[in-house]
Amino acid sequence: MEPIIDELHTLGDFIRWGASQFEKAELFFGHGTDNTIDEAIVLVSHVLHLPSEIPDILWHSRVVKSEKQEILKLFDRRIQERIPAAYLIHEAWFADIRFYVDQRVLIPRSPIAELIGQQFEPFIKVKQVGRMLDLCTGSGCIAIACAMLAFPHARIDAVDLSNDALEVAQKNIKHYGLEQRVHAFHSDLFSALAGKKYDLILCNPPYVDAQELRNMPAEYRHEPKIGLEAGTDGLFFVRKILRQAAEHLTDKGILIAEVGVSQMSLIEEYPIVPFLWLDFQQGGNGVFLLTAEQLRNYCCESII
Ligand SMILES: C[S@@+](CC[C@H](N)C(=O)[O-])C[C@H]1O[C@@H](n2cnc3c(N)ncnc32)[C@H](O)[C@@H]1O
Repeated sequence: MEPIIDELHTLGDFIRWGASQFEKAELFFGHGTDNTIDEAIVLVSHVLHLPSEIPDILWHSRVVKSEKQEILKLFDRRIQERIPAAYLIHEAWFADIRFYVDQRVLIPRSPIAELIGQQFEPFIKVKQVGRMLDLCTGSGCIAIACAMLAFPHARIDAVDLSNDALEVAQKNIKHYGLEQRVHAFHSDLFSALAGKKYDLILCNPPYVDAQELRNMPAEYRHEPKIGLEAGTDGLFFVRKILRQAAEHLTDKGILIAEVGVSQMSLIEEYPIVPFLWLDFQQGGNGVFLLTAEQLRNYCCESII
């Protein structure tokens, strides 16, 4: 890309050129942006230390040589290595909160963010939630966003099987000064949570089935496999969660879990379970809600 460096001058030039190259290279989007222009804006604004909402007045301003080189390097890595922009700049946004990310964690994108922004209305009242669990926490995004936006007084456990992911979660928890309220620790699903009960369990477990995993665009290969793969049918984790969640919920507690594309397989496997599938205005689907009572009545070990 080097020869082009003298032909591009303004910030707008770089965004336009980057977007054209991304289009030509047929990149995949779905890790924070959904189109070539926004992806170019994310990378350019990062190098220039500007907000991604670039004010109109700056689009014609010139980019200096060292910035040009840095931008072209990022464009090149995005195209040649297919690394999602969030990993290139170590930054992802979830529920309007900025998170540090690297390849030890999945890039946050769960539609659960919308529920957090609405403080889970009408499903549970803020004052009802004293203890919350974020099962399969990854970067800690769900736990942290809940602590900051939804449940200012709740104590939140955030667990993951991956020690690598837990290091990232700790970094984010520390960054927001939430060490007193959000505790990240190692647990294979509920295994380290014996005797603990929560008013709300949120979970975005791995749910990609084997065939889909093989067919995913190259960008997903930069994400940790442990955050995606869930057996031949994508239900490996959710089956266990359905069986064990009731034991860790208070009487009026609820479970909200994401299963994405595995929604249909789940409905087929458990036709009697009264899943409430949630609607999202900002996009996304495959998130269900079950109450503690429903889990006890339809999902305990002896039934399913
Ligand atoms: C789909 S990612 C979700 C991460 C984060 N909650 C988010 O929404 O971005 C799933 C997470 O589950 C973790 N995980 C995989 N197997 C697990 C297990 N048996 N117990 C706990 N966590 C597990 C992975 O390490 C990964 O961080």
